Amino acid sequence: MKIKVAPSILSADFSCLAEEVKRVENAGADLIHVDVMDGHFVPNITIGPLVVRALRKITALPLDVHLMIENPQKYVDRFIEAGSNMITMHIETIDVGSFKKLAGDLRNRKVLTGVSLNPDTGLEKIKPVLGDVDFVLVMSVFPGFGGQEFIQASVEKIKQLRAIFKGDISVDGGINDNTAKQAIAAGANILAAGSYIFAAKDVKQAIERIRHGN
Ligand code: DX5
Ligand code: ZN
Repeated sequence: MKIKVAPSILSADFSCLAEEVKRVENAGADLIHVDVMDGHFVPNITIGPLVVRALRKITALPLDVHLMIENPQKYVDRFIEAGSNMITMHIETIDVGSFKKLAGDLRNRKVLTGVSLNPDTGLEKIKPVLGDVDFVLVMSVFPGFGGQEFIQASVEKIKQLRAIFKGDISVDGGINDNTAKQAIAAGANILAAGSYIFAAKDVKQAIERIRHGN
C-alpha cells in the first residue's frame, strides 16, 4: 500500500495559512489534514467550514477533514459543501444506524468516509461500521491538541485492525520518524502529523522521513 502523508494544519502558522499549505504541498504532502474541534467533544475549539472553504481555493490536494465534534450529522453537509474530500467522524459521537446512513450519503456524493476512535475506545466499537467506511483513523493521542506524545498501545491496535480491515488505516497523534516506522510496520498507510512536520527546518525531509519510516 502506498504510504500517504497528511500534514495537520493545526500546527501551522494561521497568520499565513495559505503559505503554510503551499509549503507542505511543495514538500510532497499527499493530503491536508484539517482538525475540527467544537469545545464539547474535545477541550479545544479550532476550525469550521469557513476555513475549509478558504483552503479549497488555495490547494488541489484532498482535504482530509477530521471532525472532533458532537452531533457530526448536523454539520457534515456544510463541510462537504465547503469542499471536503474525506470526512472522519468519531464513533464516540454517533450511533451506528446514523453513521451507516451518513456513510451512504457520503458515498453518493463521492466523499470518502472514515471512522475514528479514541485511545480508550476498543476496536469492537467500530466493527459494525467497518463495511461502510473507506478508512479508519486510529487516534494515537487523546484528541484536542497537537504536540502530544504517541501512545504505544496504538501499535497493537493498528495490528489487530489490519488483520480484519483491508481499507486505509490512518494514524493520528504523536507521529515522528520513529513512531511512523512502528505504525507503518503495524499496518497503517496514512500518517497524519502536525508538529513534527510544521516545526521541521526542512519540511520535505520531515515528510520523506515519516513516509519511509527512517
Ligand atoms: C489531535 C489532532 C491531530 C493533531 C496531530 O487532536 O487530531 O491531528 O493535530 O498533531 P501532532 O502530530 O503534533 O501530534
Ligand atoms: Zn486529526
